[in-house]
Amino acid sequence: MRIDILTLFPNMMSMFFEESIVKRAQKKGVVEVHFHDLHEWSLTRYGSVDDYPYGGGAGMVMAIEPLANCIESLTAQRHYDDIIYTAPDGEMLSQPMANTLSLKENLMILCGHYKGIDERLREHFVTREISIGDYVLTGGELAAAVICDAVIRLIPTVIGDEQSALSDSFQDGLVAPPEYTRPPEFRGWKVPDVLLSGNHAKIAEWRYQQSLERTRQRRPDLYDKYSIITFDKPEETEPILPNPDPDIPCCLYGPPETLFRPHQYDDENLSFNPADNNNE
Ligand code: ADE
Repeated sequence: MRIDILTLFPNMMSMFFEESIVKRAQKKGVVEVHFHDLHEWSLTRYGSVDDYPYGGGAGMVMAIEPLANCIESLTAQRHYDDIIYTAPDGEMLSQPMANTLSLKENLMILCGHYKGIDERLREHFVTREISIGDYVLTGGELAAAVICDAVIRLIPTVIGDEQSALSDSFQDGLVAPPEYTRPPEFRGWKVPDVLLSGNHAKIAEWRYQQSLERTRQRRPDLYDKYSIITFDKPEETEPILPNPDPDIPCCLYGPPETLFRPHQYDDENLSFNPADNNNE
């Protein structure tokens, strides 16, 4: 996958991409991220890329020519599956959306600033507008970084244990169940017995019930969506991973529109290699 990010602050952005999993993904060659400084596309001597809004009012608008020229120089070189504009009035970023984007070859992300970009850019170039929440950020850079993180980690081999990407919160429309690690008892606080039992069917059932209950308590909006389809129309649900025991509900079962297995993982890819998981 190749991602081109058009921004006024390439240095601020590159810091994020030089760390952690995203850095590893680039090192492995599964993703290339390129930054384009919009100041370099300015038509003025001072490198400005904004202008006063027609009709007056406070704030500035990102002008059409620098962005249009930069976009066209890139689209002349390759086809982009999506030209994304990060904006608070865009479609809310979700796990299904990240899944969809993770299957693309070439993405372009425009980071807005000031009062946003000239509307004609949205009409004629942008194919997808994404918000990361109902609040206004100073610019689209943080939103672009969030989108890239959510998408890149889904590409096979980027995180060591692919199954953990599939069993993330939201991947099946439910939040994730609680997790524990050693020791089995700390200050008298015990790990639930079932997790130490070695009975995989029971553990899967316990995790599913925990996910269900947590979702009901913490995200009633998601719970309602999940339960309407899963419980009221069970014939419309479908598995995305082979169920170890058809009698046991498993975390990776749920409403088809929330269940989307983005990549074909073979059994080999599903095995966990701790050596892959060092956090450089
Ligand atoms: N730019 C400013 N605020 C934003 C938001 N909430 N989401 C995406 N881009 C933005």
